[in-house]
Amino acid sequence: SQIKEVEFVKSSGRAKDCPKDDRPEFAILGRSNVGKSSLINALVRKKEVALTSKKPGKTQLINHFLVNKSWYIVDLPGYGFARASNAARTDWSSFTKGYFLNRDTLVAVLLLIDASVPPQRIDLDCTNWLGRNNIPMTFVFTKCDKLKASKGKRPDENIRDFQELIRENYKQHPAWIMTSSVTGLGRDELLLHLSQLRNY
Ligand code: GTP
Ligand code: MG
Repeated sequence: SQIKEVEFVKSSGRAKDCPKDDRPEFAILGRSNVGKSSLINALVRKKEVALTSKKPGKTQLINHFLVNKSWYIVDLPGYGFARASNAARTDWSSFTKGYFLNRDTLVAVLLLIDASVPPQRIDLDCTNWLGRNNIPMTFVFTKCDKLKASKGKRPDENIRDFQELIRENYKQHPAWIMTSSVTGLGRDELLLHLSQLRNY
């Protein structure tokens, strides 16, 4: 399940501009700044495969990365970027929704959730939207290395609260993995999980 080679293929503004082949792919989705690009870099053990930034809204297009010449990881723009204009936000949702609903080669969405903060409304809404549309997903909790000692809850407590809030919507709870792009936590588990999903 290891990654030997990653190659940036293209950035697309619309679902229909995405690469046209039969290779399976996984889309990385989550709030702006949740750590999508960092996770991709951690998975492939390279600093700058996907561009990261402290400023939210860095990734604006659908970016395809080809792994081991056999499957794709797709970096998507973050949602809930407050500084984007209303018009830009609407565009974002229609083009990303188009991608989810029409991409036949999509194996699963990796929905990234920041474990260093309490459950966020927008993440719950996104979870419910994917669930209603029967799009397979795996929860990838990010920033599990972050400890807020004085105020706030620990990552594992935030994760438990999140799971509790979505529980009633699922007969079978989606798979979930705790990760950190800083310590490498969850990296091997996630790679193994992706290889199992590809081989179904
Ligand atoms: P957009 O492309 O703007 O939607 O953001 P993104 O989801 O791609 O986030 P990005 O990977 O650019 O990371 C955002 C910030 O969070 C950066 O400052 C990262 O260094 C930091 N970060 C990402 N992952 C982790 C993590 O696992 N732990 C910690 N402590 N910080 C992280
Ligand atoms: Mg990004």
